[in-house]
Parts: sequence; structure tokens; C-alpha cells
Amino acid sequence: MPATPIRFDDGAAYELMMGRWSVLVGERFLDWLDVPDGARWLDIGCGNGAFTELLVNRCRPADVQAFDTSAEQLAYARTRLPAGAPVTWTEADAMRLPVADAASDAAVMALVLFFVPEPAVGVAEMCRAVRSGGVVAAYHWDVLGDGFPLAPIATEMLKLGVPPRMAPSSAASTLEASAALWQAAGLQQVRTCAITVQRTFDSFEDYWRSGEPSNTLRPMFEDMSAEEREMLKANVRRRLQAGDGPLTVSARANAVCGIKP
Ligand SMILES: C[S@@+](CC[C@H](N)C(=O)[O-])C[C@H]1O[C@@H](n2cnc3c(N)ncnc32)[C@H](O)[C@@H]1O
Repeated sequence: MPATPIRFDDGAAYELMMGRWSVLVGERFLDWLDVPDGARWLDIGCGNGAFTELLVNRCRPADVQAFDTSAEQLAYARTRLPAGAPVTWTEADAMRLPVADAASDAAVMALVLFFVPEPAVGVAEMCRAVRSGGVVAAYHWDVLGDGFPLAPIATEMLKLGVPPRMAPSSAASTLEASAALWQAAGLQQVRTCAITVQRTFDSFEDYWRSGEPSNTLRPMFEDMSAEEREMLKANVRRRLQAGDGPLTVSARANAVCGIKP
């Protein structure tokens, strides 16, 4: 039976679970990219706008065209920036962007490439859309190297015999695979870097609550009995050596960028 696709259908839940993590990586990613202010950006798979808002505040873009396939994520995104912000939000697929050729300075995917059914097609679309000399870039959790922020829960789930769902193109998320995709697309000056971030939660309970609405883990939680969920929770607490106070959790993303010839 084919796996149920991972759907993003609640922008507010996404904010609690992943939006804050994305911004932690996004800050470091934008410093690393170092695109000058005033650029015309494409933000592909913009989700609920967490990274888009960061982009607007940090890079003073002339224009951001933000795209996502989820109407619910876009509905949340449309509420988060003040009127007059230079952003347009459009429902569209990363593999068929409704944009002109070579009309943008930079195209990015923040935590998206591993969801795109054919990553090479998504990268080709970004290449088509940016001008010569423009930047094509992405960051994605190192899901195969336990870099996903909820990896401690996923690992303990697996030990209980419940395999967590993987994003369909997870193989594209390693540094090597990302660099190979960028090179195969004909991009030049391809660079990669691993970005490790830490997020401090008020308590273990706070971390656990942030994981419950996760698009990848929620269906597994729903299929477990109350006893199994309690056992899982105890195992995750032990794994993280969590006490009664604040809990700091690390995560790692892989970033890649290149220049269109
Ligand atoms: C993990 S979220 C990242 C959201 C945002 N970029 C961020 O950094 O918080 C992944 C997003 O990619 C979107 N997505 C998945 N497949 C897509 C596709 N083929 N084209 C466009 N967006 C897609 C999902 O709807 C979801 O909002």
C-alpha cells in the first residue's frame, strides 16, 4: 500500500512545531548566502511564511514571490506580514513555477527539497527562474543523519517497532546528494555547509508538545495506544536525559548554493 503523503494542513501548528526551528537555521543560512539587499527573490515551499518573514526583515528584498502547494499554510502566511510588505503568496508546485525565465536574482527552498517528488526538476525550475549570475540555494534537515529536530522521538518510535514516515525525497538531503544535484543542474561555484542549531524548550513537556502535531509523526501517534505513547514518551525523556527544567535540543540542516552561469 503506498504511504500516505505528508500534508501540511495547519499553519498555526506548523509554527509551534517547525517554523521556529526553520528561522534558527534560516538566519545562519542567509548570512552564509550573503545576497545583497534589494534582490528579487523566489521562496519556494514558503509554508506558513516563517522563513519568508525572516527574509524580508534581514535581506530587504525588492520583491519576494512565495509559493506553496498548501492552501492552509498560505492562509497563515498571508496574516503574518504587515500590509505593504513586498511579498506575493501563490499556490503553486515547485516543479511548475508560474514565473518568467531569468527574472529573479535568487531562488531558495527552505526545508522543502526533500518533499519535492523529483528534486532535479525542482532545481531545474529554480535555475530557469533566476538570471545569469543569480543564486539557487536550499537548506533541508539532515534527515538521514539524525539532524531532524524530532529525530529523538522518531528513533525511539522505531525501537518500538513503529517506523516513522520519511519525506519522499529524503535521499536528496545529504550534503553529497545536494551538491551532486546542484552540479548536475549546471550551477557553478557550488558550495555546501552543515548548520547546527539549538532550541531551548521550557521543559521536556514543551518539546514533546511541539512534536505531537508533526506532519511526519502525528499519524503514528494516532495509531498508538495511550500506554504505548506513554512508554515512547518515557523513552524519549531518557534518551534526552531531560530533567524537570529547560531542555536544549540540537538539530542539523544541510545547505547548498550555486550560481547560474
Ligand atoms: C517543512 S515546510 C517548510 C516551510 C517553510 N519554507 C519554512 O522554512 O518554514 C515544507 C513546505 O513545502 C511545501 N511543499 C511540499 N511539496 C511541495 C511542492 N512540490 N511544491 C511547493 N511546495 C511544496 C509544503 O506544503 C510545506 O509548506
